[in-house]
Amino acid sequence: MSKELKVAFAGARRSSSFFKAFQSHPETEVVALCDAYEPNLYDAGRATGVTQLYTVYEKMLDEAKPDIVVVATPMQFHVPHSIAALERDIHVLSEVTAGVSVDECRWLVGATKRSKAVYMMAENYNYRKPVVLVTAMVEAGLFGETYYAEGEYLHELSMLHHTKEGKPTWRYYWQVGVNGCTYPTHSLGPCLQWIRERPTRISCIGAGNWTDPEHAMEDTVQLSCKTASGKLIRVRVDMLSKRPHAMTNYTLQGTKGAFEGARHPGGQNLVWLEDYCSNPDEWVPLERFEADFLPEMWRDPPPEALAAGHGGGDYFEVMDFVDAVQGRKPPAIDVHAAMDMTLPGLVSQESIRRGGEWLEVPDSRRW
Ligand SMILES: NC(=O)c1ccc[n+]([C@@H]2O[C@H](COP(=O)([O-])OP(=O)(O)OC[C@H]3O[C@@H](n4cnc5c(N)ncnc54)[C@H](O)[C@@H]3O)[C@@H](O)[C@H]2O)c1
Repeated sequence: MSKELKVAFAGARRSSSFFKAFQSHPETEVVALCDAYEPNLYDAGRATGVTQLYTVYEKMLDEAKPDIVVVATPMQFHVPHSIAALERDIHVLSEVTAGVSVDECRWLVGATKRSKAVYMMAENYNYRKPVVLVTAMVEAGLFGETYYAEGEYLHELSMLHHTKEGKPTWRYYWQVGVNGCTYPTHSLGPCLQWIRERPTRISCIGAGNWTDPEHAMEDTVQLSCKTASGKLIRVRVDMLSKRPHAMTNYTLQGTKGAFEGARHPGGQNLVWLEDYCSNPDEWVPLERFEADFLPEMWRDPPPEALAAGHGGGDYFEVMDFVDAVQGRKPPAIDVHAAMDMTLPGLVSQESIRRGGEWLEVPDSRRW
Protein backbone atom coordinates (compact mmCIF):
# COMPACT_ATOMS: atom_id res chain seq x y z
CA MET A 1 0.00 0.00 0.00
CA SER A 2 1.36 3.44 -0.84
CA LYS A 3 1.93 5.97 1.92
CA GLU A 4 -0.68 8.36 0.64
CA LEU A 5 -0.79 10.83 3.54
CA LYS A 6 2.07 13.30 4.01
CA VAL A 7 2.62 14.31 7.63
CA ALA A 8 4.39 17.39 8.96
CA PHE A 9 5.45 18.02 12.56
CA ALA A 10 5.53 21.44 14.26
CA GLY A 11 7.51 21.69 17.50
CA ALA A 12 10.39 19.26 17.24
CA ARG A 13 10.56 18.04 20.81
CA ARG A 14 7.14 16.63 21.65
CA SER A 15 6.28 15.66 18.06
CA SER A 16 9.19 13.18 18.07
CA SER A 17 7.03 10.97 20.31
CA PHE A 18 4.66 10.43 17.38
CA PHE A 19 7.32 9.71 14.74
CA LYS A 20 7.39 5.90 15.01
CA ALA A 21 3.59 5.67 15.09
CA PHE A 22 3.23 7.64 11.83
CA GLN A 23 6.17 5.91 10.13
CA SER A 24 4.90 2.44 11.02
CA HIS A 25 1.40 3.26 9.78
CA PRO A 26 0.87 1.92 6.24
CA GLU A 27 -0.86 5.11 5.09
CA THR A 28 1.35 7.88 6.50
CA GLU A 29 4.86 9.22 6.10
CA VAL A 30 6.51 12.11 7.94
CA VAL A 31 7.92 14.43 5.26
CA ALA A 32 8.59 17.77 7.00
CA LEU A 33 9.55 19.24 10.36
CA CYS A 34 9.29 22.75 11.71
CA ASP A 35 10.88 24.25 14.80
CA ALA A 36 11.59 27.92 15.44
CA TYR A 37 14.86 27.04 17.21
CA GLU A 38 17.39 25.74 14.70
CA PRO A 39 19.41 23.47 17.03
CA ASN A 40 16.23 21.57 17.96
CA LEU A 41 15.15 21.46 14.32
CA TYR A 42 18.44 20.02 13.05
CA ASP A 43 18.67 17.53 15.94
CA ALA A 44 15.21 16.28 15.04
CA GLY A 45 16.11 16.17 11.35
CA ARG A 46 19.19 14.04 12.10
CA ALA A 47 17.26 11.75 14.48
CA THR A 48 14.42 11.10 12.04
CA GLY A 49 16.06 11.39 8.63
CA VAL A 50 13.39 13.90 7.55
CA THR A 51 15.01 16.39 5.18
CA GLN A 52 12.38 19.12 4.61
CA LEU A 53 13.18 21.35 7.59
CA TYR A 54 11.58 24.73 8.34
CA THR A 55 11.84 27.40 11.00
CA VAL A 56 8.63 29.15 9.86
CA TYR A 57 5.43 27.16 10.31
CA GLU A 58 3.29 28.71 7.54
CA LYS A 59 6.17 28.29 5.07
CA MET A 60 6.21 24.57 5.89
CA LEU A 61 2.46 24.31 5.28
CA ASP A 62 2.70 26.13 1.93
CA GLU A 63 5.84 24.46 0.59
CA ALA A 64 5.73 20.89 1.98
CA LYS A 65 1.93 20.78 1.44
CA PRO A 66 1.26 18.10 4.05
CA ASP A 67 -2.09 16.34 4.38
CA ILE A 68 -1.66 16.23 8.17
CA VAL A 69 0.11 18.47 10.65
CA VAL A 70 0.91 17.58 14.24
CA VAL A 71 0.79 20.78 16.30
CA ALA A 72 3.23 20.12 19.14
CA THR A 73 4.41 23.67 19.64
CA PRO A 74 3.99 25.38 23.04
CA MET A 75 0.40 25.75 24.29
CA GLN A 76 -0.04 29.39 23.27
CA PHE A 77 0.55 28.44 19.59
CA HIS A 78 -1.93 25.56 19.40
CA VAL A 79 -4.85 27.70 18.20
CA PRO A 80 -3.00 29.90 15.68
CA HIS A 81 -1.14 26.89 14.28
CA SER A 82 -4.29 24.75 14.14
CA ILE A 83 -6.28 27.51 12.41
CA ALA A 84 -3.52 28.13 9.85
CA ALA A 85 -3.66 24.43 8.92
CA LEU A 86 -7.47 24.15 8.95
CA GLU A 87 -7.71 27.19 6.64
CA ARG A 88 -5.56 25.23 4.18
CA ASP A 89 -7.72 22.09 4.68
CA ILE A 90 -4.81 20.32 6.35
CA HIS A 91 -5.85 17.82 9.04
CA VAL A 92 -4.71 18.72 12.56
CA LEU A 93 -3.63 16.59 15.50
CA SER A 94 -3.14 19.21 18.21
CA GLU A 95 -1.36 18.78 21.49
CA VAL A 96 -3.07 19.66 24.76
CA THR A 97 -4.52 21.94 25.85
CA ALA A 98 -6.57 23.01 22.82
CA GLY A 99 -6.10 26.72 23.58
CA VAL A 100 -5.15 29.29 26.19
CA SER A 101 -8.20 31.59 26.16
CA VAL A 102 -11.94 31.19 25.70
CA ASP A 103 -11.89 33.72 22.84
CA GLU A 104 -9.31 31.86 20.82
CA CYS A 105 -11.17 28.59 21.49
CA ARG A 106 -14.17 30.20 19.77
CA TRP A 107 -11.97 31.05 16.78
CA LEU A 108 -10.74 27.45 16.68
CA VAL A 109 -14.27 26.02 16.72
CA GLY A 110 -15.21 28.43 13.90
CA ALA A 111 -12.20 27.31 11.86
CA THR A 112 -13.11 23.63 12.24
CA LYS A 113 -16.61 24.42 10.93
CA ARG A 114 -15.26 26.20 7.86
CA SER A 115 -12.59 23.59 7.07
CA LYS A 116 -12.89 20.33 5.16
CA ALA A 117 -10.11 18.92 7.35
CA VAL A 118 -10.34 16.86 10.54
CA TYR A 119 -9.33 18.35 13.90
CA MET A 120 -8.48 16.09 16.81
CA MET A 121 -6.90 16.93 20.15
CA ALA A 122 -4.15 14.54 21.19
CA GLU A 123 -5.32 13.64 24.69
CA ASN A 124 -3.14 10.57 25.00
CA TYR A 125 -4.13 9.62 28.57
CA ASN A 126 -7.51 8.48 27.22
CA TYR A 127 -5.66 5.71 25.38
CA ARG A 128 -3.73 4.22 28.33
CA LYS A 129 -4.57 0.56 28.88
CA PRO A 130 -6.29 0.86 32.30
CA VAL A 131 -8.28 3.90 31.11
CA VAL A 132 -9.40 2.09 27.94
CA LEU A 133 -10.42 -0.97 29.99
CA VAL A 134 -12.40 1.06 32.55
CA THR A 135 -14.10 2.94 29.69
CA ALA A 136 -15.17 -0.35 28.11
CA MET A 137 -16.48 -1.55 31.48
CA VAL A 138 -18.43 1.70 31.94
CA GLU A 139 -19.94 1.25 28.48
CA ALA A 140 -20.89 -2.34 29.36
CA GLY A 141 -22.74 -1.04 32.44
CA LEU A 142 -20.53 -2.71 35.07
CA PHE A 143 -20.36 0.42 37.23
CA GLY A 144 -24.07 1.21 36.81
CA GLU A 145 -24.74 4.93 36.48
CA THR A 146 -21.42 6.71 37.00
CA TYR A 147 -21.72 9.92 39.00
CA TYR A 148 -18.35 10.79 40.57
CA ALA A 149 -14.81 10.76 39.16
CA GLU A 150 -11.43 12.13 40.19
CA GLY A 151 -8.30 12.76 38.20
CA GLU A 152 -4.99 14.12 39.44
CA TYR A 153 -1.92 15.32 37.56
CA LEU A 154 0.90 15.77 40.06
CA HIS A 155 4.09 16.50 38.16
CA GLU A 156 6.79 18.75 39.51
CA LEU A 157 8.17 20.45 36.40
CA SER A 158 10.29 23.28 37.77
CA MET A 159 13.29 22.04 35.79
CA LEU A 160 11.39 23.05 32.62
CA HIS A 161 10.52 26.61 33.71
CA HIS A 162 13.84 28.09 32.54
CA THR A 163 16.27 27.28 29.76
CA LYS A 164 19.87 26.26 30.50
CA GLU A 165 20.72 29.93 30.03
CA GLY A 166 18.14 30.94 32.68
CA LYS A 167 15.52 32.36 30.30
CA PRO A 168 11.86 31.68 31.26
CA THR A 169 10.18 29.12 28.98
CA TRP A 170 6.55 29.02 27.81
CA ARG A 171 5.74 26.76 30.74
CA TYR A 172 6.83 29.53 33.13
CA TYR A 173 4.24 31.89 31.62
CA TRP A 174 1.38 29.65 30.47
CA GLN A 175 1.42 26.76 32.93
CA VAL A 176 2.59 28.14 36.31
CA GLY A 177 2.46 31.86 35.44
CA VAL A 178 -1.35 31.82 35.49
CA ASN A 179 -3.42 30.92 38.56
CA GLY A 180 -6.05 28.26 37.93
CA CYS A 181 -6.19 24.75 36.57
CA THR A 182 -3.97 25.43 33.55
CA TYR A 183 -3.32 21.80 32.55
CA PRO A 184 -6.50 19.80 33.20
CA THR A 185 -6.91 17.61 30.12
CA HIS A 186 -4.95 14.54 31.27
CA SER A 187 -7.25 14.35 34.29
CA LEU A 188 -10.52 15.46 32.71
CA GLY A 189 -10.08 13.36 29.54
CA PRO A 190 -10.50 9.93 31.18
CA CYS A 191 -13.06 11.23 33.72
CA LEU A 192 -15.30 12.63 30.97
CA GLN A 193 -15.17 9.30 29.10
CA TRP A 194 -16.53 7.66 32.25
CA ILE A 195 -19.02 10.31 33.39
CA ARG A 196 -20.28 10.84 29.83
CA GLU A 197 -21.63 14.35 30.38
CA ARG A 198 -19.88 17.64 29.77
CA PRO A 199 -19.01 19.96 32.67
CA THR A 200 -21.53 22.80 32.78
CA ARG A 201 -20.30 24.63 35.93
CA ILE A 202 -16.96 24.76 37.68
CA SER A 203 -15.36 26.07 40.85
CA CYS A 204 -11.62 26.31 41.46
CA ILE A 205 -9.64 26.86 44.66
CA GLY A 206 -5.98 26.51 45.53
CA ALA A 207 -3.74 25.53 48.44
CA GLY A 208 -1.68 28.73 48.43
CA ASN A 209 1.82 29.57 47.21
CA TRP A 210 4.32 27.73 49.38
CA THR A 211 7.01 26.05 47.29
CA ASP A 212 8.07 29.01 45.19
CA PRO A 213 5.93 32.16 45.71
CA GLU A 214 7.28 33.61 42.44
CA HIS A 215 4.63 31.70 40.47
CA ALA A 216 1.07 32.95 40.07
CA MET A 217 -0.30 29.40 40.11
CA GLU A 218 -0.96 28.04 43.58
CA ASP A 219 1.00 24.91 44.37
CA THR A 220 -2.01 22.62 44.21
CA VAL A 221 -5.23 23.67 42.52
CA GLN A 222 -8.51 21.83 42.78
CA LEU A 223 -11.12 22.10 40.06
CA SER A 224 -14.66 20.88 40.79
CA CYS A 225 -16.88 20.28 37.78
CA LYS A 226 -20.64 19.71 37.86
CA THR A 227 -22.62 18.28 34.96
CA ALA A 228 -26.18 19.13 33.95
CA SER A 229 -27.59 16.12 35.83
CA GLY A 230 -25.56 16.95 38.97
CA LYS A 231 -22.61 14.55 38.58
CA LEU A 232 -19.28 15.69 40.06
CA ILE A 233 -15.69 15.50 38.78
CA ARG A 234 -12.78 16.57 40.97
CA VAL A 235 -9.47 17.46 39.29
CA ARG A 236 -6.24 18.24 41.12
CA VAL A 237 -3.29 19.70 39.24
CA ASP A 238 0.05 20.35 40.90
CA MET A 239 3.15 21.17 38.85
CA LEU A 240 5.12 22.83 41.67
CA SER A 241 5.12 20.80 44.89
CA LYS A 242 8.22 18.74 45.60
CA ARG A 243 7.30 15.07 45.32
CA PRO A 244 7.67 12.12 42.95
CA HIS A 245 5.24 12.44 40.09
CA ALA A 246 1.81 10.78 39.93
CA MET A 247 0.06 11.82 36.75
CA THR A 248 -2.58 9.11 36.45
CA ASN A 249 -4.41 9.07 39.77
CA TYR A 250 -8.01 8.26 38.94
CA THR A 251 -11.13 7.26 40.87
CA LEU A 252 -14.60 6.42 39.60
CA GLN A 253 -17.83 5.78 41.47
CA GLY A 254 -21.06 4.45 40.01
CA THR A 255 -24.29 3.03 41.39
CA LYS A 256 -22.97 -0.53 41.03
CA GLY A 257 -19.25 -0.23 41.68
CA ALA A 258 -16.06 1.74 41.98
CA PHE A 259 -12.59 1.98 40.47
CA GLU A 260 -9.53 3.06 42.50
CA GLY A 261 -6.51 3.58 40.25
CA ALA A 262 -2.93 2.94 41.41
CA ARG A 263 -1.56 6.06 43.08
CA HIS A 264 2.14 5.30 42.70
CA PRO A 265 4.42 3.14 40.53
CA GLY A 266 4.01 -0.53 41.41
CA GLY A 267 0.55 0.13 42.86
CA GLN A 268 -2.47 -1.83 41.68
CA ASN A 269 -5.54 -0.68 39.80
CA LEU A 270 -8.50 -2.03 41.77
CA VAL A 271 -12.24 -2.35 41.27
CA TRP A 272 -15.21 -3.38 43.30
CA LEU A 273 -18.33 -4.31 41.34
CA GLU A 274 -21.63 -5.33 42.91
CA ASP A 275 -22.43 -7.93 40.24
CA TYR A 276 -18.98 -9.52 40.28
CA CYS A 277 -17.64 -9.28 43.85
CA SER A 278 -19.44 -11.41 46.43
CA ASN A 279 -17.47 -9.86 49.32
CA PRO A 280 -18.64 -6.25 49.90
CA ASP A 281 -15.21 -5.27 51.32
CA GLU A 282 -12.91 -6.88 48.79
CA TRP A 283 -11.23 -4.95 45.99
CA VAL A 284 -10.14 -7.05 43.01
CA PRO A 285 -7.42 -6.27 40.44
CA LEU A 286 -8.70 -4.44 37.37
CA GLU A 287 -6.70 -6.83 35.16
CA ARG A 288 -9.12 -9.62 36.05
CA PHE A 289 -11.59 -7.99 33.62
CA GLU A 290 -9.20 -7.83 30.68
CA ALA A 291 -10.22 -11.20 29.22
CA ASP A 292 -13.86 -10.15 28.88
CA PHE A 293 -13.73 -6.38 28.37
CA LEU A 294 -10.36 -5.17 27.03
CA PRO A 295 -10.98 -3.57 23.61
CA GLU A 296 -9.36 -5.15 20.58
CA MET A 297 -6.72 -2.43 20.10
CA TRP A 298 -5.03 -3.30 23.41
CA ARG A 299 -5.25 -7.14 23.11
CA ASP A 300 -2.22 -7.74 20.97
CA PRO A 301 -0.45 -4.39 20.68
CA PRO A 302 2.43 -4.11 18.19
CA PRO A 303 5.96 -3.36 19.51
CA GLU A 304 5.58 0.29 18.39
CA ALA A 305 2.61 0.67 20.74
CA LEU A 306 4.40 -0.89 23.69
CA ALA A 307 7.45 1.32 23.06
CA ALA A 308 5.40 4.51 22.62
CA GLY A 309 5.28 7.17 25.31
CA HIS A 310 2.56 7.63 27.93
CA GLY A 311 1.69 3.97 28.33
CA GLY A 312 1.11 3.46 24.60
CA GLY A 313 -1.24 6.45 24.37
CA ASP A 314 1.04 8.24 21.91
CA TYR A 315 0.65 5.31 19.48
CA PHE A 316 -3.05 4.55 19.71
CA GLU A 317 -4.18 8.16 19.37
CA VAL A 318 -2.27 8.38 16.07
CA MET A 319 -4.00 5.22 14.81
CA ASP A 320 -7.42 6.65 15.75
CA PHE A 321 -6.59 10.00 14.18
CA VAL A 322 -5.54 8.45 10.84
CA ASP A 323 -8.78 6.42 10.84
CA ALA A 324 -10.68 9.71 11.26
CA VAL A 325 -8.68 11.42 8.49
CA GLN A 326 -9.50 8.50 6.18
CA GLY A 327 -13.18 8.77 7.08
CA ARG A 328 -13.35 5.37 8.75
CA LYS A 329 -14.68 6.85 12.01
CA PRO A 330 -15.29 10.26 13.57
CA PRO A 331 -12.35 11.81 15.44
CA ALA A 332 -12.31 10.34 18.95
CA ILE A 333 -11.59 13.77 20.48
CA ASP A 334 -13.20 16.25 18.11
CA VAL A 335 -13.14 19.98 18.72
CA HIS A 336 -16.13 19.88 21.10
CA ALA A 337 -14.68 17.04 23.17
CA ALA A 338 -11.45 19.06 23.21
CA MET A 339 -13.41 22.08 24.47
CA ASP A 340 -15.06 20.00 27.21
CA MET A 341 -11.55 19.18 28.47
CA THR A 342 -10.04 22.65 27.92
CA LEU A 343 -12.71 25.26 28.75
CA PRO A 344 -13.19 24.23 32.42
CA GLY A 345 -9.52 25.03 33.00
CA LEU A 346 -9.79 28.40 31.26
CA VAL A 347 -12.92 29.41 33.22
CA SER A 348 -11.16 28.21 36.40
CA GLN A 349 -8.80 31.20 36.16
CA GLU A 350 -11.73 33.55 36.84
CA SER A 351 -13.24 31.26 39.49
CA ILE A 352 -10.03 31.05 41.54
CA ARG A 353 -9.67 34.84 41.28
CA ARG A 354 -13.19 35.17 42.75
CA GLY A 355 -12.46 32.83 45.67
CA GLY A 356 -13.88 29.67 44.11
CA GLU A 357 -17.14 31.11 42.76
CA TRP A 358 -19.15 28.65 40.65
CA LEU A 359 -19.11 29.77 37.01
CA GLU A 360 -20.77 28.52 33.83
CA VAL A 361 -18.63 26.67 31.27
CA PRO A 362 -19.59 27.77 27.73
CA ASP A 363 -21.00 25.00 25.51
CA SER A 364 -18.99 25.11 22.29
CA ARG A 365 -21.73 23.16 20.50
CA ARG A 366 -23.85 26.35 20.67
CA TRP A 367 -21.10 28.59 19.26
N1 LIG B 1 0.30 14.97 25.83
C1 LIG B 1 1.39 14.88 26.56
O1 LIG B 1 1.58 13.93 27.30
C2 LIG B 1 2.39 15.99 26.46
C3 LIG B 1 3.68 15.81 26.96
C4 LIG B 1 4.60 16.87 26.81
C5 LIG B 1 4.20 18.03 26.17
N2 LIG B 1 2.93 18.16 25.72
C6 LIG B 1 2.50 19.36 25.00
O2 LIG B 1 3.29 19.49 23.83
C7 LIG B 1 3.60 20.84 23.57
C8 LIG B 1 5.10 21.04 23.45
O3 LIG B 1 5.68 20.69 24.69
P1 LIG B 1 7.25 20.40 24.83
O4 LIG B 1 7.42 19.74 26.14
O5 LIG B 1 7.75 19.71 23.60
O6 LIG B 1 7.83 21.87 24.87
P2 LIG B 1 9.36 22.30 24.64
O7 LIG B 1 9.48 23.67 25.15
O8 LIG B 1 10.28 21.26 25.16
O9 LIG B 1 9.50 22.29 23.07
C9 LIG B 1 8.76 23.15 22.26
C10 LIG B 1 9.46 23.23 20.91
O10 LIG B 1 8.66 24.06 20.08
C11 LIG B 1 9.53 24.98 19.42
N3 LIG B 1 8.77 26.19 19.08
C12 LIG B 1 8.44 27.20 19.91
N4 LIG B 1 7.73 28.12 19.22
C13 LIG B 1 7.60 27.67 17.95
C14 LIG B 1 6.97 28.17 16.78
N5 LIG B 1 6.28 29.32 16.81
N6 LIG B 1 7.06 27.45 15.66
C15 LIG B 1 7.72 26.29 15.64
N7 LIG B 1 8.37 25.76 16.70
C16 LIG B 1 8.28 26.44 17.84
C17 LIG B 1 10.66 25.23 20.40
O11 LIG B 1 11.82 25.71 19.76
C18 LIG B 1 10.85 23.86 21.01
O12 LIG B 1 11.76 23.06 20.26
C19 LIG B 1 2.97 21.63 24.70
O13 LIG B 1 1.76 22.16 24.31
C20 LIG B 1 2.73 20.63 25.81
O14 LIG B 1 1.60 20.94 26.57
C21 LIG B 1 2.03 17.15 25.85
